[in-house]
Amino acid sequence: MAEREVFLVAGARPNFMKVAPILRAMEAAGGSLQPRLVHTGQHYDEGMSDVFFRQLRIPPPFIHLGIGSGTQAAQTAKIMMAFEELLLTRDPKRAAVVVVGDVNSTMACSLAAAKLRIPVAHVEAGLRSFDRAMPEEINRVVTDAVADLLLVSEESGAANLRAEGIPESRMRMVGNVMIDTLTAELETARATKAWSKHGVRERNYVYVTLHRPSNVDDGDKLRRIIGVLNEIAESLPVVFPVHPRTQARLKENDLAKEIAKGIIVTEPLGYHESLSLVDSARLVLTDSGGIQEESSVLGVPCLTLRANTERPATVVHGTNTIVGDDPDAVMPHVREILSGRMKKGGPIPMWDGRAAGRIVAALVEEWEARG
Ligand code: UD1
Repeated sequence: MAEREVFLVAGARPNFMKVAPILRAMEAAGGSLQPRLVHTGQHYDEGMSDVFFRQLRIPPPFIHLGIGSGTQAAQTAKIMMAFEELLLTRDPKRAAVVVVGDVNSTMACSLAAAKLRIPVAHVEAGLRSFDRAMPEEINRVVTDAVADLLLVSEESGAANLRAEGIPESRMRMVGNVMIDTLTAELETARATKAWSKHGVRERNYVYVTLHRPSNVDDGDKLRRIIGVLNEIAESLPVVFPVHPRTQARLKENDLAKEIAKGIIVTEPLGYHESLSLVDSARLVLTDSGGIQEESSVLGVPCLTLRANTERPATVVHGTNTIVGDDPDAVMPHVREILSGRMKKGGPIPMWDGRAAGRIVAALVEEWEARG
């Protein structure tokens, strides 16, 4: 059987934990599909990229496109140009592309490949927040429109795709590949006891992550959020690793000085440290998609500071509560949880640590069969 190169795209932090198990499963499968990891360089810092390669034992990429930061259009355009240049050196009949998640790299690489008639598979297809103010929502809609194979992580994804008129033949329910990495790494993560390094006790702190433009780009809103964190810190210590976007906004608005002493501010954390801190928290407050998923699987109460979620399985089956995007709505939920009233959650269908095997089986069925 003729070989086919499969370009597996990763660009930003949340992509790395998704590509790691897919890459391993493709390598284990052998066969005619040859994985080629592409790092677009959307994220590039040690703490936003390299640490994940090390901790998740991801081999160095086949190619690093070195794109870096930029406005939405500039970053997307640069990724498209660089990825197209790579694809143009390949035989389109012997190439395929796998993209994961919803970051700018996901959409840019899907578009570049689709226009060269190179087949594209999208891992985490069909998720919708129905909020076009989120750059990720545009990325999701566009990627699903041009991808050939839509690999769905939860029931809502399939329902959304059906509602958009996508035929069943393009979809496969494969489950959530993030949970493969969580399952594989949990023991190592727990052994880091990351909470102890921040001077807090197990189940006795709140873990906070915030980086969405809708929460941090507006100085007044960010100030109100800091006010809420300060209020939480009167009851329990808060561990708050600060994303570079949030760091920049804190600086621009001169807000660092308003952060109370009970808030332990850190640099962005590695995968193991962050997972350990989610696992041992009393509660999590976040606007991250991945942390909504991790806390649900670990049974830790999660408050999501957003008006919506594209991951409703975490609310329906898991421990996630959508607070809304008004920071004033947070404290009543925090008090409830601290008084012992909280969602317990249960298992989420196909979030079982075996999604990568199903993803690779779907790729083999589609792409080996076509020869
Ligand atoms: C991106 C994704 C978002 C994801 C998030 C996780 C898009 C549209 N957004 O948002 O979905 O949840 O990653 O982190 O793709 N920066 C650094 N070092 C880095 C990377 C970025 O300092 O390694 C700074 C730069 O100042 C940059 C800013 O962070 O301008 C934002 O980076 P960018 O990739 O544009 O978006 P994120 O907010 O990280």
